Amino acid sequence: SPRSMTTDKVLVGVIGGSGLYNLNNLTFIKHVNPETPWGHPSSPIAISSLPSGALVAFLARHGTHHSLPPSAIPSRANIAALKSLGVSTILAFSAVGSLREDIAPGDFVLPSQLIDRTKGVRPASFFEDTGVVAHAGFSDPYSIGLGKWLAGAVEEALREEEEDEGKRVRLWREKTLVVMEGPQFSTRAESLMYRAWGGDIIGMTALPEAKLAREAEISFALIATATDYDAWRPHQPGVTATEVGAILEKNAHTSRHVAAHVIERLLKVALSEAKTEGKNAKGLLNEETGC
Ligand code: ADE
Repeated sequence: SPRSMTTDKVLVGVIGGSGLYNLNNLTFIKHVNPETPWGHPSSPIAISSLPSGALVAFLARHGTHHSLPPSAIPSRANIAALKSLGVSTILAFSAVGSLREDIAPGDFVLPSQLIDRTKGVRPASFFEDTGVVAHAGFSDPYSIGLGKWLAGAVEEALREEEEDEGKRVRLWREKTLVVMEGPQFSTRAESLMYRAWGGDIIGMTALPEAKLAREAEISFALIATATDYDAWRPHQPGVTATEVGAILEKNAHTSRHVAAHVIERLLKVALSEAKTEGKNAKGLLNEETGC
């Protein structure tokens, strides 16, 4: 089985979005490409070790060479593959547009809410066509305990980076992420409508990923990285792929630093919980969300 290909120590998975195709400060061990009942994941999964010897699984959501558009990402295979490696906590990254003046391109956001504007074309449940009816709670789409812990750890990472470069990337919390189908960006009217709905940021890939992680009982958090102001600002040009592309590398650089800082601490928590509970570190940080 895929599980026996590695060890039980792969507790943390990282999913990289646009611009983030690898991590650093890790010792690469091997690639694995588990076949799940939903096919293969977006890309082979890189297994790496931390100085402590603990293992991390990294998956490039759009494929290693960014060949998958949002609608074609095999999210069920991605989540199932990580689960099969023993992953109990996933940290995901995703590039987003900003629907708020305050949230500037280059800022980082920990969303706490989602609005689903995907168009029903993405398989969004493991239970589809199984004859099993299962309704997972999704009122809080991201793990609350993990999010609280992560806010502190990410702030710490961004402060640390500030010492290196003299300015700090800002982190926003408790924001609402609109997930749209794409691949085209929104019209001005849609962008204004999302603001009126209470949306703060907008992306194309956070769903169904978060729904599937919930069904798989994996603690899940998303770090959204802002690249543009979408299309709501009057008298400003709307977003283009060129604008998004220009900031992706800067955000990816910061994301790699944040991931390196956070994963080590996350694993420490996960491993100590695993030890005290004598089992897999499921339910990291006393989740209040039931998973
Ligand atoms: N990803 C990055 N910027 C975006 C935007 N403005 N809309 C949707 N997805 C995005």
